[in-house]
Amino acid sequence: MPAAALWISLAAAQALPPGKAQAIVASRCVVCHSVDVVTAAAASKARWQAVVDEMVTDGAQLSPAEVPVVVDYLAKNFPERPAKTKRPATNPAGSAPK
Ligand code: HEC
Repeated sequence: MPAAALWISLAAAQALPPGKAQAIVASRCVVCHSVDVVTAAAASKARWQAVVDEMVTDGAQLSPAEVPVVVDYLAKNFPERPAKTKRPATNPAGSAPK
């Protein structure tokens, strides 16, 4: 269904920040899951490398030359969230400092 595929990749492109690998991710990383799976992730570059390698093993259609471009793009736009920006855990005792 070309029309549906086009719709999916336009929606995915809008969810993704502009960059070198935007079109690649929007077309090749949404075949098996929604783009939300990608945009919700946050990881170090090493972790993104591992994720992309795993996706390629699973069947993502990336050429060997595209892999580092995609990894750079993802690591730059969806970096690991520093621990200190994590919301403080709810403390049932109510003694968490503000
Ligand atoms: C051939 C199907 C397929 C393609 C294509 C694919 N994925 Fe996935 N992806 C999966 C499956 C299945 C899962 C859930 C199981 C898992 O975690 O391995 C997943 C999970 C994920 C996760 C969350 C899990 C984690 O380990 O954090 C991320 C992030 C992700 N994919 C990114 C990508 C990116 C980026 C691309 C494009 C390079 C991509 N995927 C292309 C099949 C695919």
